[in-house]
Amino acid sequence: MPRRSCHATPGSNEKMLGKAPGLGADQVFLDLEDSVSPLEKEAAREKIVNAIKHQDWGDTVVCVRVNAWDTEWTYRDVITIVENAGDRLDEIMLPKVENAAQVVALDLLLTQIEKTIGRQSRVGIEAQIETARGLINVEEICAASDRLETIIFGPADFAASTEMPVLTGGVQIPEYPGDHFHYVFSKILMAGRANGLQVIDGPFLKIRELDALRDYAMRTRILGFDGKWSLHPDQVTVINEVYTPTQEQFDKAFDILDAYETATTEGERRGAVMFGDEMIDEASRKMANKFVSRGERAKMVRSAG
Ligand code: GLV
Ligand code: MG
Repeated sequence: MPRRSCHATPGSNEKMLGKAPGLGADQVFLDLEDSVSPLEKEAAREKIVNAIKHQDWGDTVVCVRVNAWDTEWTYRDVITIVENAGDRLDEIMLPKVENAAQVVALDLLLTQIEKTIGRQSRVGIEAQIETARGLINVEEICAASDRLETIIFGPADFAASTEMPVLTGGVQIPEYPGDHFHYVFSKILMAGRANGLQVIDGPFLKIRELDALRDYAMRTRILGFDGKWSLHPDQVTVINEVYTPTQEQFDKAFDILDAYETATTEGERRGAVMFGDEMIDEASRKMANKFVSRGERAKMVRSAG
């Protein structure tokens, strides 16, 4: 399933929970962690269960972010949500993951709950990398469980963890010559791709600055990320667009596949041929395939002719 836009919804806010399915986001995560006041955490569990059970989620991926293992809430978050939300719950997101054992612990707990309630489909796991230790251990984290579906970068907590002198999370820092998160983005991307995961960029907190969001999102799109969080409905449209191939790229990818197929199977059966003014070969086929699968995931259709 595509996860170009992953929309954050505070679990304590019934109005926002009610609107979440209609925003056009590929994934919605209902939050029990940092967007919920400590005094509202327990009540929010029930609100989230109700929203998952009684709202029409269409084909949106439905996820719940529980609290991190260093709080007192995690195990009850997981048990209450998974035991009661029903099959429409797709995944649990674990924040501030620091090592593989924390993912394994969640995997074991999910296995027990699934057996107890007789759930047929498996609940997936999403892991957030947002501390220095999490980044150091991202490779073992990404390989920790076959339930893992995505690895996510959390820029706000990460800035706090590394003591970056910034007060706004996930935005460009013009004073820095380059991209202050380039190393982080690349390291997470490699670990995620090496383990077949989707790789997701976190929030952009200046929610009114849509052009700046587009500009910043383009960085992780160009590196190869699958999607990004949205915090406001207006951000969803921009993010869906950034992480979808253009029609021109999508059509060109099909043309490359056709030309390569013809070249390798007909006439002299060549492995490397000219496509317009560029050379294509097996690696080009792989690159083109990625555009096609990403476009198809976003329900794009090849132009006629
Ligand atoms: C998201 O959770 C972040 O900390 O940026
Ligand atoms: Mg965070």
